[in-house]
Amino acid sequence: MFQKIGIVGAGTMGTGMAVDLVLHGLETVLVDVTEEQLQKAEAEILQTVRFAPLLNKKYPKMSMEKVQALLHKTTHLEDLADCDYIVENVPENWLIKEPIYLRLDEVCKEETVFGVNTSCISITKVGSATKRPDKVIGMHFMNPVYMKPSVEVIRGHITSEDTVAKAEAFLAQLDKEAIIVNDQTGFVSNRISHLFMNEAAWVVMDGVATPKQVDDIFKKCFSHKMGPLETADLIGLDTVLDSLKVLYEEYQDPKFRCCPLLKKMVDAGECGQKSGKGFYTYSK
Ligand SMILES: NC(=O)c1ccc[n+]([C@@H]2O[C@H](COP(=O)([O-])OP(=O)(O)OC[C@H]3O[C@@H](n4cnc5c(N)ncnc54)[C@H](O)[C@@H]3O)[C@@H](O)[C@H]2O)c1
Repeated sequence: MFQKIGIVGAGTMGTGMAVDLVLHGLETVLVDVTEEQLQKAEAEILQTVRFAPLLNKKYPKMSMEKVQALLHKTTHLEDLADCDYIVENVPENWLIKEPIYLRLDEVCKEETVFGVNTSCISITKVGSATKRPDKVIGMHFMNPVYMKPSVEVIRGHITSEDTVAKAEAFLAQLDKEAIIVNDQTGFVSNRISHLFMNEAAWVVMDGVATPKQVDDIFKKCFSHKMGPLETADLIGLDTVLDSLKVLYEEYQDPKFRCCPLLKKMVDAGECGQKSGKGFYTYSK
């Protein structure tokens, strides 16, 4: 059983990961670059943990003191030295991810597995930044993490069977099932879903339909739970843009060319739910 988990990056996914870990009674070390981001993440974690039992009775009612006792916040990667498992959630940008892995490799225990929460970046490439490529595995958690029963798990080219087994055991502790696939940029989920989200943005830019109409067609005609533009807003339009860049560069295929409207919205700070405005407006 894993006891102490390191979470690198306290943004949308890191915060969501911490909520799920705390709800399952796991000690969590949350790392980000600023105290400000860590404070913001803690406030969100406390609020989500408080509401979780109202949404699903399987979650325990936890006091603020109990949550704070499980959650350690830090700006130092060195504080992950005694963690049993790491899940990295920094932005989808190789220039940011690579130095993290170089450092994690130095500070973490030799046996510690690195779970890469990436939307698209090849797990084999991440593994190559470490001296333990066999212990690097993709763990594509989705938002909101604590409400999702399954995780797309990506086996890098030389990820070991032992690492796959450890990832499954870690997910089992969080009551989640692993859907294990092989490594290639974008894996299954985002190689397909980013085509939907990007094309939906083109449809809006071309004046064919409003965001609501696009999403309604997916929800009311295809019976999807969410439309592609609501999904893009939930993920974060900046993250969607970064992922499209990775897909485009890797496959050199124009089908992944990013819609200019999406770029313009990100330049304007309209990043979706996290910024209060994207294809829809949100009250913060
Ligand atoms: N948003 C989603 O729905 C979603 C879903 C699955 C996977 N992902 C992937 O998860 C990763 C994180 O995405 P996100 O949406 O949480 O991004 P985000 O921008 O919301 O959060 C990233 C966090 O990482 C922090 N950070 C940056 N550099 C750091 C460093 N050197 N050390 C520690 N922290 C650092 C930032 O301050 C920020 O708080 C990305 O690779 C993304 O593609 C995102």
